[in-house]
Amino acid sequence: MKKVLIVLLVVLVVIQFFQIDKTNPVTDINQDFLKIHETPTEIAATIKATCYDCHSNQSVYPWYTNVQPVGWFVKNHIEDGKKHLNFSEFGTYTAKKQAHKLEECYELIEKGEMPLSSYTIIHKEAVLTETQQTALVNYFKEMELKINKVQ
Ligand code: HEC
Repeated sequence: MKKVLIVLLVVLVVIQFFQIDKTNPVTDINQDFLKIHETPTEIAATIKATCYDCHSNQSVYPWYTNVQPVGWFVKNHIEDGKKHLNFSEFGTYTAKKQAHKLEECYELIEKGEMPLSSYTIIHKEAVLTETQQTALVNYFKEMELKINKVQ
């Protein structure tokens, strides 16, 4: 038993040498979703506070991401989230892709699947109130319509 604990402790110490890369990629602000659509301040603030850590190039890494394997877990979610949807690069998507992503946004918010619950457990401020949820759903729907009209 004692041996197992020692091995575990050694592993925990060793993995601390494998820190995550916290640099955010440099991006053109003119491709940012909120900038392109001149999103109203309050809605923009909600989207920034609840989606941007995982779906933009403006991720904020809390102190505990210096502790492994927590950092690996967080980094993994950010990489995965950005692969699916990156608001910082929204302007580079085709109109069809933009409309489709916005549709997924309001569907997942309506279902309560976004923001991820593993995130809101720690980031209590990112729990959407019913009012915020409705506002975001309506806004994403409105933007989807706008993009589809322009196409
Ligand atoms: C903790 C990180 C995190 C936060 C915060 C978060 N997401 Fe996600 N999101 C993910 C990950 C990881 C995926 C991909 C895996 C999955 O679908 O669960 C994803 C998938 C998505 C997808 C699906 C895209 C596709 O192509 O299938 C949409 C849309 C989305 N998120 C929108 C949002 C919106 C809108 C918010 C804010 C209200 C948000 N997310 C907050 C991590 C996050």
